[in-house]
Amino acid sequence: MAVLLKKHCSKAVLTVVALIAITHAQQTNTRASAAKKEDVEFTCPTEVGNGNFADPATCKRFYQCVDGYPYMNRCPSGLYFDDISKYCTFKDEARCGPIASTPAPSTEPPVDLATKCNTAECELPYCFCSKDGTLIPGGLDPEDTPQMILLTFDGAVNLNNYDHYRKVFSKNRQNPNGCDIKGTFFISHEYSNYNMIQQLASDGHEIGTETISLQQGLQDKGYEEWVGEMIGMREILKHFSNISKSEVVGMRAPFLKPGRNTQYKVLEDFGYIYDSSIGAPPSPVPIWPYTLDYKIPHECKAGSCPTKTFPGVWEVPLNAHYVEDYEGGHCPYLDQCVLHNHDAQEVFEWLQEDFSRYYEQNKAPYMMPFHTNWFSIKELEQGLHKFLDWTSTLPDVWFVTMTQALTWMTDPKSLKQVNSIEAWNCVKKKENIPPPSCNNSNKCALSYKNPNMNFTDTRYLETCAECPNQYPWLGDAGGSGIPGKDNYVPDNVRK
Ligand SMILES: *[C@@H]1O[C@H](CO)[C@@H](O)[C@H](O)[C@H]1NC(C)=O
Ligand SMILES: *[C@@H]1O[C@H](CO)[C@@H](O)[C@H](O)[C@H]1NC(C)=O
Ligand SMILES: *[C@@H]1O[C@H](CO)[C@@H](O)[C@H](O)[C@H]1NC(C)=O
Repeated sequence: MAVLLKKHCSKAVLTVVALIAITHAQQTNTRASAAKKEDVEFTCPTEVGNGNFADPATCKRFYQCVDGYPYMNRCPSGLYFDDISKYCTFKDEARCGPIASTPAPSTEPPVDLATKCNTAECELPYCFCSKDGTLIPGGLDPEDTPQMILLTFDGAVNLNNYDHYRKVFSKNRQNPNGCDIKGTFFISHEYSNYNMIQQLASDGHEIGTETISLQQGLQDKGYEEWVGEMIGMREILKHFSNISKSEVVGMRAPFLKPGRNTQYKVLEDFGYIYDSSIGAPPSPVPIWPYTLDYKIPHECKAGSCPTKTFPGVWEVPLNAHYVEDYEGGHCPYLDQCVLHNHDAQEVFEWLQEDFSRYYEQNKAPYMMPFHTNWFSIKELEQGLHKFLDWTSTLPDVWFVTMTQALTWMTDPKSLKQVNSIEAWNCVKKKENIPPPSCNNSNKCALSYKNPNMNFTDTRYLETCAECPNQYPWLGDAGGSGIPGKDNYVPDNVRK
């Protein structure tokens, strides 16, 4: 039976998932945004030690002093720093500082670096870790563990790839319980067709967010940028594909460059359940997903992984794909391995060998991350279809969405009981998923001005909703034409 937990303070009840993401960090301190080291003139008061201090110049910022060094923080969009309670809040409640006599709050631990996995303290369903990241949850033996396969597709969905993606999920491919196989899409905005995305969501695939603009260098940007990109993307999906916000609970950072602690703070603040942006180097035994209560149990390939703990937030890492002699190299996204000189049979065998490292060892979920590129090469696409047909014959292989996989992990069931997992069932129509895309969608030609260029261009957007005034973009997810209109308030400060 699925446990249904609310994220505290959050109105969003996760009706789909029996997934638990209690984030203790939210209850305490910093509603503060990401701390960013900058050259600032602010001097931390020496007599009071660590703490948060109002920025004399603006109420939208404050400084977090850590061992005498001032880190400049911005309040989340729309909020202001209250110098009495020392956190960001609504404008009419914020008492702007600096207020002379306010004592600094008693100090927070200065650098909250995550420690190594402590299995004695880390218990399901809230927490999961293992020393080297390879252990099966629930102490199951590999032969009792279902082999999950996670098909993920990143970027825009449009005419270039839609039919190819649909073919992957053709009706004759089913899980052992007779339900159609499912996958997960991490959507980026530009060139996306929201009518098609609505259909994918309506078919029961999971929709997560990448970002609106796929800008480079986002990993070094601040809280507001991440909110604009990621929460803005979620708003666009709501607006133009009628996908409920409570269904969008997963995130993938563009180019697999996680945004250090900042991205995870946004994730936590806005009620996401998991991230899937962290690449793991090739390892003989693949890594299972884990919560960010403890240090990441593998090398961080991107170099911009979170260093703090984010209790209860799941990371579904991207294990490197490779075969023993490294023919084709190794890659997080399958289309980044060099297989284009192979024929379909060779591609199939390559995938089979890569997969066997999971299937014959610890049955960690086999993630198959794709960009549209994979499907532009016939041999790769055919090789994938051979692979999918072959795995469909294995009795213990399940193609599930990310949240379905995490639901299993929070309450691991042995293979014999897997048929009873509600979240893996398809008999009851899921609530909260949008209706099928409409037959008379609007094909909107919209003016679009890239902020970095001073000419106006046209972008097309297809949707069952009404055409907006302008191409939706950062700060204007609804396409109202009013720049900087949007104002996203984290769940944990919403009253
Ligand atoms: C949006 O989806 C909901 C179900 O989640 C449905 O009741 C509603 O009619 C849909 N709205 C439109 C405009 O299609
Ligand atoms: C859309 O078209 C299909 C097939 O042409 C039809 O079966 C369906 O009823 C139509 N849906 C709506 C909402 O008009
Ligand atoms: C773009 O703007 C710059 C300065 O604002 C101007 O010098 C330049 O001519 C403009 N370019 C175009 C193509 O309009």
